[in-house]
Amino acid sequence: MSITLEIPQQASRAEIYQALAPQLESVLEGESDFVANLANTAALIKESFHFFWVGFYLVKNQQLVLGPFQGPLACTRIDFNRGVCGAAYRAQKTLVVPNVDEFPGHIACSSLARSEIVVPIFNSRQEVIGVLDVDSQHLNDFDSVDQKGLEALVKVLERSITKNQNDIART
Ligand code: SME
Repeated sequence: MSITLEIPQQASRAEIYQALAPQLESVLEGESDFVANLANTAALIKESFHFFWVGFYLVKNQQLVLGPFQGPLACTRIDFNRGVCGAAYRAQKTLVVPNVDEFPGHIACSSLARSEIVVPIFNSRQEVIGVLDVDSQHLNDFDSVDQKGLEALVKVLERSITKNQNDIART
């Protein structure tokens, strides 16, 4: 397993996402532990783009509960009917929010977060077991490039979850 991340310099975000997917694959390949793999996935994204907050909320007992993350302290529990994370969970699709202040019910864990993207994570039964949440200090920081890039990284994670039968994390 390679543990040194190679981030292309002077590259576009699309190119960086492209370079990251195979590296995430090799990082996850040798490890079956769910929390360890979520932690390294969050680190890989944070190190590459320096977003304000990168992390996971996992479905547990009918709530989204904070999982591994990189960034400032965060809210620990989100109800399914609250926030961007709850909305992405309910919609079962990626949500891009250009201005969090304009999103009804947005949960301001930090007043510094201005825009965000949330990508649901599916198990092999097509159930959402959690979400990847990425927050930026800049307005309108995410677009279809981030959606495509982050969804590709989540696909790599989903393959590892299925292979290692980490679905059990859904309680
Ligand atoms: N932005 C989220 C809350 C979690 S934090 O920002 C880390 C939301 O509204 O769902």
